[in-house]
Amino acid sequence: MDSHKLLIDQFNGHFERINAELSRTFNNLVSLTEVIGNHSFLGEGKRLRPLLFVMSSQLCGYQEEDIYHFSTIFEYIHTASLLHDDVLNNAEMGTRKPSANHVSRNSAAVLGGDFLKTKYFSIAVGSNNLDFLKILADTTTRMDEGQVLEFAQRGNWHISRDEYMEIVISKTAVLFSAACACGAIIAGAEKQAVYHLSQFGLNLGIAFQIMDDILDYTSCEEEFGKPLRNGRINLPLIYTLSNLKGTEIERLEALFKNHKGKDKDYYKKIIEMVRNNGVIGRVRSEARLNVDKAARFLGYFSASPAKEDLMQLNADIIR
Ligand code: IPE
Ligand code: IPE
Repeated sequence: MDSHKLLIDQFNGHFERINAELSRTFNNLVSLTEVIGNHSFLGEGKRLRPLLFVMSSQLCGYQEEDIYHFSTIFEYIHTASLLHDDVLNNAEMGTRKPSANHVSRNSAAVLGGDFLKTKYFSIAVGSNNLDFLKILADTTTRMDEGQVLEFAQRGNWHISRDEYMEIVISKTAVLFSAACACGAIIAGAEKQAVYHLSQFGLNLGIAFQIMDDILDYTSCEEEFGKPLRNGRINLPLIYTLSNLKGTEIERLEALFKNHKGKDKDYYKKIIEMVRNNGVIGRVRSEARLNVDKAARFLGYFSASPAKEDLMQLNADIIR
């Protein structure tokens, strides 16, 4: 996507160094990675979470080169969650293409995801920083809970906005929050700075996931219906359903159960319904509110180039 390319270009210096560290640490991995292939691990990722970590640490005055080494933690955690998510989706095409489980079956994706979780931990221990480790442990636990929660809510056409937002926060936003908070911690920043950066990352992360949800209804043809096919009811659909009359939801739910995995046209109809319902603008406004809230938390810090970069990255989430 062009806006993503812009983002990578803009922060290219960081991007290159993050990638160099990923390649260096990744080359040390066992032969499992040969089975799965580097492609889906290190492929086209934007490295947003390592980038946020690096820039947050710089905001708090950290200038050491080891920041790029520690930044890989956030990409490994993220990639592990993508691999496990692909397994849950039984995806033919994962978020990164092709998904590892398609290439080498679910078992390899599960093993790969688990391996990355131990890999991140061994890098993190090198920080010798208990606060840093505690945030990472709490975050990965919450992310796992989020994935379980989302799995449990599959096909629930009555999921509430609050229930859905809990999934958004736990499966996605807490990692953005941790990346920013850990940047402050590694820099030895005071508690208030850690708090403000953690809230900045959380709200940015919520906006990021909401914008990704919108893409499910507005992106190109072949992506049509992917989350729906997996029974994922996300924010645009929740708002659309809330605009329907009582029995209409039951009718769609029954159709969903009957059509499951069979009829592409059914999913297209639902997507059209969401597109024509006027909810996309409402969902985008909600993402914007979170971006604005994130910006207010960043307002705590005095002006600096790192603050400008973080402000820019935050603003770029709305596209
Ligand atoms: C995809 O995250 C999963 C979501 C949280 C929406 P990214 O869009 O950051 O994926 P990569 O790392 O660039 O592949
Ligand atoms: C999946 O996010 C990655 C996690 C945050 C665990 P999405 O559910 O938004 O990704 P897609 O829509 O399957 O690509």
